[in-house]
Amino acid sequence: LDNGLALTPPMGWLTWERFRCITDCKKYPDECISENLIKRTVDHMVNDGYLDAGYEYVGIDDCWLEKKRGPDGRMVPDRERFPSGMKALADYIHSRGLKFGIYEDYGNLTCAGYPGVLGSEQLDIDTFVEWDVDYIKLDGCYIPPEDMDKGYPEFGRMLNASGRPILYSCSWPAYQEDKKILPDYASIAKHCNLWRNWDDIDDSWASLSSIMDWFGDNQDRLAPHAGPGHWNDPDMLLIGNFGLSEDQARTQMAVWAVLAAPLLISADLATMKPEFKRILLNKDIIAVNQDRLGKQGLRVWKQRNISVWHRELSNGERALAFVSQRADGAPYAAKFTFQDMQLPEQTYTVQAITLSAPLYQGLPSAILRTQDKKLQKPGHLGYILLYIPRTPVTCLPS
Ligand code: DGJ
Repeated sequence: LDNGLALTPPMGWLTWERFRCITDCKKYPDECISENLIKRTVDHMVNDGYLDAGYEYVGIDDCWLEKKRGPDGRMVPDRERFPSGMKALADYIHSRGLKFGIYEDYGNLTCAGYPGVLGSEQLDIDTFVEWDVDYIKLDGCYIPPEDMDKGYPEFGRMLNASGRPILYSCSWPAYQEDKKILPDYASIAKHCNLWRNWDDIDDSWASLSSIMDWFGDNQDRLAPHAGPGHWNDPDMLLIGNFGLSEDQARTQMAVWAVLAAPLLISADLATMKPEFKRILLNKDIIAVNQDRLGKQGLRVWKQRNISVWHRELSNGERALAFVSQRADGAPYAAKFTFQDMQLPEQTYTVQAITLSAPLYQGLPSAILRTQDKKLQKPGHLGYILLYIPRTPVTCLPS
């Protein structure tokens, strides 16, 4: 969507993956969807370096509404969990230098059963504008996926007509892919800043791995539609939660960087472990994700569940991620050539962003040895991202 926003993939924080639809603040005071959770998160984003690293949106996903609209037909935020109202919350978020994201659903109801926008679109957009909302995630429960090709662009036009720059996140293709309807990605890219393509991520390596597979398997019809202002969204970062090892967390960060994916943390920043925080705040990997050329990378090689992902960056630089999706712990030799990696044969300067120990020994020397033998032209390779969960991989010279 050409509205001047999201010229690089959006970065921020979103409630859903970690906090779901927890509404009982008596039982779960630190986890319920509430203004306290949002304010606490905002403070951590500012004080702990997330905002400085580029994470600027803080978003409330589903379950913030009262079950019934007000007598004037307007959406009402849950009175107990958001007692100060959304405008006051927006003011707080803005006063700390962040931007405010909120969730609604294009159907009659949100997925969790709260009032959707259907039939109240203009009133709801007016309300969001009054609340100074900067980002809307529009989900697609309780509306036939066939209706979305018309409905999502229409809502987007109304948003743009409001005059307030509001980032527009669509779930349109995710519901169509699910029903085996081939989404019109050219139209989606024209009307949305980002869009969920596929399954919801959950806090496990199995879920992350299946999403990586899907994005690799379908890359030819997805990647051409990503670019400044419009991004495929493989869903939130799990990093900092319970389901991923440290190496697996690095894998997600690396692959999301290569995919030019939105970086939306969904974790409790108050209890974030330092090893996960380091991954989320790694400046070099964020720079790959935010590269201004905005070209989505591709999985260029895969054998025995070990893969190479390659993204072209500005200034002729390239980022490569070497990924093992194997679940066992035995060592495997991975052998691939420059051609396999889709790298022109020339001399490269290599910057390794994060290395697993076995690869540190193996890969750069493999590249250097190849250079010595047959490469002449000088060139520059900006980044190598090496992330291997659990399984050590030995890289042999080609
Ligand atoms: C489905 C979406 O894909 C999720 O990300 C989340 O927004 C839930 N709905 C909320 O009900």
